[in-house]
Amino acid sequence: MKVRKAVIPAAGLGTRMLPATKTIPKEMLPLVDKPVIQYVIEEAVASGIEDILIVTNRAKSAMDDYFDYHPELEERLLRDNKTKEAELVRMSADLANIFYVRQKETKGLGHAIWRAKRFVGDEPFAVLLGDDIMMAKTPVTKQIIDAAEKHGASAVGVQTVPDEHISKYSSVKVSPLEERVYRVSDMNEKPTPAEKFSNYAILGRYVLTPDIFDILENTPPGYGGEIQLTDGLKTLCKQSPMVAVDFEGRRYDTGNLKGFMEAIIDYALASDEIGPWLKQFIVDKARQF
Ligand code: G1P
Repeated sequence: MKVRKAVIPAAGLGTRMLPATKTIPKEMLPLVDKPVIQYVIEEAVASGIEDILIVTNRAKSAMDDYFDYHPELEERLLRDNKTKEAELVRMSADLANIFYVRQKETKGLGHAIWRAKRFVGDEPFAVLLGDDIMMAKTPVTKQIIDAAEKHGASAVGVQTVPDEHISKYSSVKVSPLEERVYRVSDMNEKPTPAEKFSNYAILGRYVLTPDIFDILENTPPGYGGEIQLTDGLKTLCKQSPMVAVDFEGRRYDTGNLKGFMEAIIDYALASDEIGPWLKQFIVDKARQF
């Protein structure tokens, strides 16, 4: 089992980041000096992925423009001896083979993934949610792929979250398999603390087998009246092996303002270019409080 393809669902309406996301896709908001989705694509590429499908909608063409060449801009930059900038502009277009499909109707994450059926064909594939950003030594998608390949199973990336946050996620029922890896036997989407299976929540990274497509086709709308990927995974984990990987790394939900601000600060602090300046700025600011 070799995972070569990835699907990035990025067709949400971005209603938690308004008004900025009225005309700018939330995946295109700048995280320091790159749009959020570029981090997701770089993680996929660093995990061995060659072909990437982005599931978009009609308001998101800024994404396909970004991953295309921009001859006029590149020519101008080269003429002005701005070689570094020209390279950066070109690099984003050459990161991977990127394909697009539109979701057409906003019917939920499960429906968005189902739109990838023709692209995926008959091989296992990774899913990276377009607004979940991971800061990790080993790319989180690689950690999930390694476990999936080792166990011949589908796999989900999990971390523990406190009771008061579990209802934002899907909670999985797990039994230990090896260090940081668990067997998954059930799950539910956005449970109350009383309904949760455990405090292990799925956080935006998956490796799935193509069996998921037939399952999603027959999955009725669930939480929020939408076709939920979690409901499809619940069926998948009962018919074939699935593991949960308690991955190493820090996850940021850039789809809400607080998560986005945390990501901006941490990524800026980690940057050689502006990290030292920002650290000093924060120290000076803190003295004023
Ligand atoms: C989605 C999934 C949920 C998952 C979460 C974090 O929820 O439906 O199962 O736990 O992402 O990755 P959303 O954040 O879109 O509400």
